[in-house]
Amino acid sequence: MITKKSLLIFFLGMLILIGCETLKTSRPIMPVKEYEKLLVGRLDANYVGEDNCLKTCHTHDKKRDDLAASTMGAQLSKKSGMPLVDCESCHGPGSLAIEGLTEEKVKEDLENGKETACNYKALIDLKNLPAPALSLMCLKCHSANATFNLHNWNANVHAINDVSCSDCHEIHKGPDLIVSPKDTAEMCYKCHQEVRAEFYLPSHHPVAEHKVFCTDCHDSHGGILTESLLRMSTVKEQCTQCHVEKEGPFVFEHAESAENCSTCHAHHGSVNNNLLIAREPFLCLQCHEGHKISGISSEERKAVYYTRCTDCHSQIHGTDIPSASGKGIFTQ
Ligand code: HEC
Ligand code: HEC
Ligand code: HEC
Ligand code: HEC
Ligand code: HEC
Ligand code: HEC
Ligand code: HEC
Ligand code: HEC
Ligand code: HEC
Repeated sequence: MITKKSLLIFFLGMLILIGCETLKTSRPIMPVKEYEKLLVGRLDANYVGEDNCLKTCHTHDKKRDDLAASTMGAQLSKKSGMPLVDCESCHGPGSLAIEGLTEEKVKEDLENGKETACNYKALIDLKNLPAPALSLMCLKCHSANATFNLHNWNANVHAINDVSCSDCHEIHKGPDLIVSPKDTAEMCYKCHQEVRAEFYLPSHHPVAEHKVFCTDCHDSHGGILTESLLRMSTVKEQCTQCHVEKEGPFVFEHAESAENCSTCHAHHGSVNNNLLIAREPFLCLQCHEGHKISGISSEERKAVYYTRCTDCHSQIHGTDIPSASGKGIFTQ
């Protein structure tokens, strides 16, 4: 039976899906000049300064206070002593928007139960700008020289897929322009729903437990090294940053095909313990045959086929110690 609740969940789910899809339909990339044009704002408007913008009315006081309290808003120009970043840095010149706005008018409107709006249509229409233009607005200051971490931005999978800076750095959410590591997962899940599910599988990296963070492994702005925006240049290097003891080199390595941790491990989560992509012995039987061992009981021999190979081959990640036969069989 279809209950109201399940219908509701279904429609919410659909909404989320549709939301994500719109993000993924990328538009043809235009020449940078076209985006620049979108950012100039009205040519007949002038810059009037934040104080003039905001003095007649207090609707935006919280936005102003938050910005002033942020690292970005706190920067003062060495020359003029004025804030380096103010409302007009992003919203464009404001003279037309505040034309005719006086304190008297605002008061009068208020007495008539009306909130005075500025002529915000004369400002840059940020909400409808294509993502590359929105990002360009930030990049005019955060050039690769000024913000080194952004030097790969143009090749970044987010940039290419119409994700803009302000999708992750919500300018007016509060004074913190960078979400704290423990809140990043939720921020990323907005668009990466499937990853959330992975981190709730029985075996998983402790992201939900706030011991490991998306940003330990991924660099949101980086990513010419791997498609998956890893901080390191290979999966193995990424993993052994924390699991140092698995790095090697060992006298007896477990072959090249097993060199990549992903041969056996999922990166986020898995239904199998130890993040394995398949359970033992099946994991090992993909590449090896089960075997008999002379001198062990028939019970034990059975076990060789049906239990964990790593009960005996415990040093599966490599070892410096030869096995009884003098070979590298990873038994110790
Ligand atoms: C670093 C760039 C930047 C600065 C500086 C900035 N804004 Fe914004 N502002 C944005 C962006 C981007 C948006 C669109 C956000 C969104 O997606 O809704 C926005 C949206 C807004 C909105 C519309 C929000 C809504 O809920 O509809 C208002 C109002 C606003 N800004 C006021 C201000 C004021 C006032 C200042 C100065 C105190 C300011 N902004 C400074 C980037 C900026
Ligand atoms: C007018 C120049 C200018 C513009 C435009 C600008 N920024 Fe900034 N931003 C700065 C300066 C200066 C700093 C402080 C120094 C630094 O961290 O590089 C800063 C700092 C930041 C920080 C770091 C805050 C912290 O707590 O460390 C973030 C994140 C940021 N900006 C995001 C953005 C985004 C997103 C946009 C576009 C919506 C943008 N900025 C547009 C100049 C600008
Ligand atoms: C997919 C999400 C995402 C997008 C898109 C994004 N950022 Fe970030 N940004 C982050 C996160 C997360 C951090 C925290 C640092 C870290 O651990 O990677 C950060 C850090 C920063 C910082 C702090 C200094 C630094 O490099 O650590 C600045 C400045 C910044 N971003 C600016 C930008 C600008 C400008 C853009 C657009 C060109 C942008 N970001 C796009 C997620 C994003
Ligand atoms: C506003 C939506 C949005 C947010 C927020 C976002 N992403 Fe993405 N991300 C995308 C889109 C769109 C793509 C490209 C399409 C795809 O592969 O899903 C992408 C691609 C990626 C990829 C590469 C995927 C692949 O298949 O190779 C990684 C890794 C990634 N994002 C990590 C992150 C992390 C980590 C965060 C949080 C810091 C984050 N994203 C936040 C939208 C987003
Ligand atoms: C322990 C390291 C680690 C952590 C933590 C981590 N990832 Fe990943 N992620 C990886 C690796 C490794 C890959 C696959 C890289 C490859 O094969 O190129 C990957 C791939 C991805 C992809 C591409 C699709 C896929 O699953 O292959 C997305 C999207 C992604 N991660 C998002 C996230 C988000 C969002 C978070 C935080 C909630 C996160 N990751 C936390 C290591 C990590
Ligand atoms: C930022 C550090 C970090 C990185 C990078 C990292 N791990 Fe982990 N890993 C952890 C932590 C923390 C745990 C949990 C340990 C615990 O709970 O005792 C863990 C646990 C594991 C486990 C055991 C899981 C279980 O269910 O017991 C495996 C297997 C593993 N990681 C493999 C990997 C692989 C493969 C990579 C590369 C894709 C990787 N790790 C990258 C920190 C990291
Ligand atoms: C040939 C398959 C295989 C490959 C390749 C592999 N592992 Fe494992 N790994 C296993 C198996 C099987 C277990 C569970 C049995 C055990 O405890 O030894 C395991 C367990 C682990 C554990 C949790 C238990 C412990 O020993 O700490 C970590 C962490 C781990 N692997 C990290 C890695 C890293 C990092 C890499 C890449 C350098 C890697 N593994 C490559 C098969 C593999
Ligand atoms: C992706 C394929 C692959 C997987 C999965 C794999 N191995 Fe291997 N393994 C190899 C290759 C290739 C060699 C090198 C074979 C050689 O040199 O003859 C090897 C070597 C070995 C050796 C040493 C054999 C010798 O003759 O030197 C043992 C023991 C071994 N693996 C056990 C395991 C166990 C146990 C597992 C499961 C946890 C496993 N392997 C998973 C590919 C794999
Ligand atoms: C009861 C312990 C035990 C179990 C369980 C076990 N092995 Fe072994 N394995 C050994 C011993 C002992 C050797 C021989 C060591 C030597 O030559 O020094 C060996 C040798 C091997 C070799 C090398 C064979 C050769 O001809 O050189 C491979 C490959 C291997 N095992 C794979 C596996 C796989 C795959 C499994 C799981 C299906 C498994 N083992 C389970 C104890 C075990």
